[in-house]
Amino acid sequence: MSIHQSSNVKRITTHILQEMKNRGEKISMLTAYDFTMAGIVDTAGIDIILVGDSASNVMAGHETTLPITLDQMIYHATSVVRGVKRAFVVVDIPFGSYQGNSSEALRSAIRIMKESGGHAVKVEGGSEIKESVSRILSAGVPVMGHLGLTPQSIYKFGTYTVRAKEETEAQKLLDDAKILEDCGCFAIVLEKIPASLAKKVAESISIPIIGIGAGPHVDGQVLVVHDMLGITQEFQPRFLRQYADLRADMNKAVQNYIKDVKSKDFPNDQESY
Ligand code: KIV
Repeated sequence: MSIHQSSNVKRITTHILQEMKNRGEKISMLTAYDFTMAGIVDTAGIDIILVGDSASNVMAGHETTLPITLDQMIYHATSVVRGVKRAFVVVDIPFGSYQGNSSEALRSAIRIMKESGGHAVKVEGGSEIKESVSRILSAGVPVMGHLGLTPQSIYKFGTYTVRAKEETEAQKLLDDAKILEDCGCFAIVLEKIPASLAKKVAESISIPIIGIGAGPHVDGQVLVVHDMLGITQEFQPRFLRQYADLRADMNKAVQNYIKDVKSKDFPNDQESY
């Protein structure tokens, strides 16, 4: 029985996520960018759906997450929200819509919440964006932080390799996690950092810590859904576990369709009016 067939679907909230951390139950999180995929992931029972700005790569074919706009994120988020009954929906605020000043950050967050119906926003960074985070939180909008490899800063890093291996960067990450917790964030994503550092963060910070390439000692895991389903295939980092090979299956299905059309096998009498 799918999770939606049971009579009452209980929506995931920030409170429930915190309880999960407190009792040691791992939190599952995947991305989605459209109505259909959101429905599939939600029905399977995922706890959090992230409308990630990775839509810039996965849906639009850009090399980085930088080009996606606030309007485009709202479009994706609106479609996702329509497909979700149970999961908690978090929406990335895109590059350039919150770093400049806290008033703009608040305006962007409010647009996302009002226009898409999402349940929370996610932002990348620590001390540098503290004011923006506090301003958004003061309006009653839940905020998820994102530290470690923060793709919106890719041109500063210059590479997608593991972050915070050096002591100074590791200490800054620990400090930033504390700042985000003190501001009132409900959770933090840690991307591509040593497992031992992620463990330290998860043990010293009371809010849920969700990892991607951050090892097993955190409170939950997130992956890009197209990567774990094997739809995208160029991206094969060590942290990615592929649960299906849908690109091959889809390719085969399309080839079979083409063959049937060309050979006049499709449509047959039962498929015609
Ligand atoms: O945009 C995204 O998909 C993300 C995840 C990788 C955490 O931020």
